[in-house]
Amino acid sequence: MAIKKFIIRDAKRSDLKELSRLAKETCIEAFGQVLTNTQLEEQIAQTRSEDYFNAILGKENIMLALSENQIVGYVQFGSLRSSFKNSTKNDRELWRLYIDSDNQGQGIGKALLETALNNPDMKKAKNIYLDVWDQNKRAINFYKKQGFKVVDKNKWYIDGEYILNYLIMKREQ
Ligand SMILES: CC(C)(COP(=O)(O)OP(=O)(O)OC[C@H]1O[C@@H](n2cnc3c(N)ncnc32)[C@H](O)[C@@H]1OP(=O)(O)O)[C@@H](O)C(=O)NCCC(=O)NCCS
Repeated sequence: MAIKKFIIRDAKRSDLKELSRLAKETCIEAFGQVLTNTQLEEQIAQTRSEDYFNAILGKENIMLALSENQIVGYVQFGSLRSSFKNSTKNDRELWRLYIDSDNQGQGIGKALLETALNNPDMKKAKNIYLDVWDQNKRAINFYKKQGFKVVDKNKWYIDGEYILNYLIMKREQ
């Protein structure tokens, strides 16, 4: 398989329809087995819909990887969404990193992660946190290779219902 060329840039208003499509698709791939259809629809509406991206564009960091003019991956990052054990408000968080399934394993995830970590606001932070489902071995291995270490674990609940265990990983800069 030929390695595809890709570019990385900030998301623009005109990208949001396609970004939302990719975000929904990768959300279903990631969580389709563990969430009910109603929970999945709610997650998508709250965190992957065009309305959601429209509301945060320009306020939060969203960067895209594009290959042949198609969005093949995205990363979201910024302030801590919740406090982690021993974290301070000057730390930062990698919120979401998703690569389209046809384009994984080609260096795109690593390039998007490096771009996020090189953002001036992220560079100033002492620690970068993220959370990841404890069954997502591929992502855990990927993050370990990029210098993140498991520092804690927690459980994800939706409306009081247990969904899954996740790991908290931290990279000291
Ligand atoms: C996890 C994910 C972001 C990785 O992105 P990717 O584009 O597939 O990974 P890359 O091709 O950039 O790989 C970068 C490095 O990680 C390594 N890597 C990737 N998958 C790995 C695995 N399963 N085990 C060990 N190392 C792995 C690669 O070998 C590569 O190493 P190198 O730097 O020595 O060349 C991507 O697979 C993905 O989007 N998965 C589905 C969504 C997801 O799980 N997101 C994270 C949720 S928190």
